[in-house]
Amino acid sequence: MKVSLEHIPGNKGFPIVGELPNILKEGVKYFENRKEKYGEVYKFRMPTGMVVGFLGEKAAIQLLKNHGNMFNIGNATKELLGPIYPNSIMLMDGEKHKKDRSILMQAFKREALNEYITKMPEIIEQTLEEIRLQNTIKVYPMFKTLVIRIVGKLFFGIDDEEFLIKVNKAITPMGIAMVSVPVNIPGTAYHKGLKGRKYLSKAFLELAVQKRAKPGTDFFSKLCSATNEDGDTFTDQEIVDHLLFLYQGAYDTTSWALSNLVYRLAKAPEWQEKMREELKNIDLTQIDLQTLLGLKVSTMIFYEAMRMAPSVPLTIREVNEDWKISDEIIIPKGTKIWVSMAMGMKDPKYWNKPEKFDPARFSDKRQEHKKCPHSFLPFGAGPHQCIGRVFAEIIVKMMMTALLQEFRFSVPNDYKIAISEFPIMRPKDGLPVRFEKIAYQ
Ligand code: HEM
Repeated sequence: MKVSLEHIPGNKGFPIVGELPNILKEGVKYFENRKEKYGEVYKFRMPTGMVVGFLGEKAAIQLLKNHGNMFNIGNATKELLGPIYPNSIMLMDGEKHKKDRSILMQAFKREALNEYITKMPEIIEQTLEEIRLQNTIKVYPMFKTLVIRIVGKLFFGIDDEEFLIKVNKAITPMGIAMVSVPVNIPGTAYHKGLKGRKYLSKAFLELAVQKRAKPGTDFFSKLCSATNEDGDTFTDQEIVDHLLFLYQGAYDTTSWALSNLVYRLAKAPEWQEKMREELKNIDLTQIDLQTLLGLKVSTMIFYEAMRMAPSVPLTIREVNEDWKISDEIIIPKGTKIWVSMAMGMKDPKYWNKPEKFDPARFSDKRQEHKKCPHSFLPFGAGPHQCIGRVFAEIIVKMMMTALLQEFRFSVPNDYKIAISEFPIMRPKDGLPVRFEKIAYQ
């Protein structure tokens, strides 16, 4: 008997666009409300067809870990990612994914990370210079520029600031296009994203020719000759496509992680002081990976900011075979399932007063994140777990060290951040923050 979605509760939303406008407007709340109305499993329509939302931290871990190979990511994301980021690692499953990921992992090995750490202070200094010129600055665009510089310089070996500005301009609409109605006519968000992709793909293909002729020490040059255990190498187009997605993967996620952290600390000056206390004597030109990862207070604060508003609140998989969730619910083969990592991070079953910014919940004494192994998943889990998670932590901790050593920062008492939550969180107004230079005696 052919299984259908008839027995699953839910709604279709608007013609053509379905529930997309509501999801863009409400973010994680959309899923919380639907859970209240329909229960943990329900259906809704996206521009690409009906999908199923399966909520709860256990659902998230089951889909992400993918034991028994019941789900795929390639079909699940192909309409969203395919046109803008073809050949990217998040479109791959099984052996192909494993092989390509093992090559990309070379950019995130301990030695590589320690090398990035030595190059980071110079790039961070450019951001500090921008802050020194202004009292109040919108931190989200500022951190986006920072991440563009970091990835551009460290992975691509690009030093040309003008080109990095062009990269920044091209990559922003690419992210937006992924969640736009796919209509490719001039003026649409989708068209702008495709245009950005065309520009960057061409520019980076030209760069590949240069890297092959004259390799540098950057990751791009290394990828040109990298092989996996079977001796396979990448074509220039594959290298460009993988690097473009690494750029996207790092870009708005890390900019949000930094912005969100600055916001939470601006609102909680006592925690800002505690983090400053831990970081004030660090010499960024001498620090190494182990020391950065071992910073206890900073780690607690970083985790708590991500728990409150994770950069990636949800993700998608597709069911490979009819999937029986319970006696009443069977999800048909080929159905796309949306899972929310964000909801488990706010569940009062695991988190004491989840709406409160309380970094001490991650302390050795309280360890709320260990009450359930699946309730804290800001970097995902399983085969597609974030490849850049340690790199992101390095960027965040190094940038915050530099900021906290030189400035106190604040937002007006009555300011409350307005977040656009989907697909990656971002502040709607760019998040203006006031910086005040610390006068040391
Ligand atoms: C705070 C910053 C970041 C957060 C919160 C974050 C979050 C995530 C999450 C949740 C996933 C899994 C998505 C899924 O399973 O569907 C993911 C995957 C990924 N991330 Fe990150 N990310 C961050 C930074 C970075 C950075 C800095 C890079 C690269 C330099 C990066 C590159 C990637 C890539 C390539 C994948 C796909 C991995 C695969 O499919 O095997 N991310 N990220």
